[in-house]
Amino acid sequence: MFELIKTLTQTFGPSGYEKRVAETISKLLKDKVDEIRTDALGNLICVKKGTGKKIMLAAHMDEIGIIVSYIDEKGFLRFGNIGGLPPLIIMGQRVKFENGTVGVIWYEENIDNMKNAKIEKMYIDIGATSREDAEKLVQVGDLAVFVGETVEQNGKIISKSLDDRVGCAILVKLAQSKTKTDNEIYYVFSTQEEVGLRGARTAAFGIVPDMALAIDVCDTGDTPSCKPMAVHMGDGPTVKIKDRSVIAHPEVKDRLINAARKKKIPYQLEVMMDGGTDAGSIHITAGGIPSGGVSIPTRFIHDSSEMADMKDIENAVKLLAELIK
Ligand code: CO
Ligand code: ZN
Repeated sequence: MFELIKTLTQTFGPSGYEKRVAETISKLLKDKVDEIRTDALGNLICVKKGTGKKIMLAAHMDEIGIIVSYIDEKGFLRFGNIGGLPPLIIMGQRVKFENGTVGVIWYEENIDNMKNAKIEKMYIDIGATSREDAEKLVQVGDLAVFVGETVEQNGKIISKSLDDRVGCAILVKLAQSKTKTDNEIYYVFSTQEEVGLRGARTAAFGIVPDMALAIDVCDTGDTPSCKPMAVHMGDGPTVKIKDRSVIAHPEVKDRLINAARKKKIPYQLEVMMDGGTDAGSIHITAGGIPSGGVSIPTRFIHDSSEMADMKDIENAVKLLAELIK
């Protein structure tokens, strides 16, 4: 599992440019499912055929990043955000473009109050000495992602882009496990979640499943002076009750809880006040789709060093295997 997550987290794929991730997953699932297709928005849809209910499991392939908006005469890049980027945690971070060019995010040092350290006051230095020099490597409109090694330590995984490559890894493992079921399972690796849950919307419209789940990360309430939240890293995957984008369908929630109890899999109830998931766009697609979610409790979400517990990840695979039966 660790190697799989490492491969997926280190593959370039900011919102709208998920192609490399899709190719990696396609290769992994080539002989494991009955059909693999890609829709116009780039969603990768892997189908395990069946005669029962249609179940859609979605994990987003895209990761947060930056987009170059302007290159000044000295070769410094100005940029905008792709997904949610808290200014205080991106300062000093390293970013990497698809062609391998590396840059450092820094800020205009005449800022007195760090609360004013807005993205508009930051720039990326790629070591260029002029605009022409910079343009040999980077163009306006190019996207870059954060750099962050993937390591396993104390049973935890620390990496960039666990959001949501860890969800992708869980679905890959589940599809590879060949769980016996009559249901038709749609493993959907969605695009553009970080910029507004976009890919999952068209994917769900194309499938119209009987039930859908978003597999993603959620916050935890177990670090010093954090906001109170009844979710702890390592206490099991969560059964989503609510996030900012969706109120889980009661029946979906109950099915997940029953599956966890039956197999004695630890689980936690998730009420996340910030942040949405693909379930947010799926449940209001077509005539409405009963939706919910399973999340991996993750610390430091959207930092280049997100942290999750390997046990929670393994248990999420088990929980989903029981549910899709
Ligand atoms: Co995210
Ligand atoms: Zn996510």
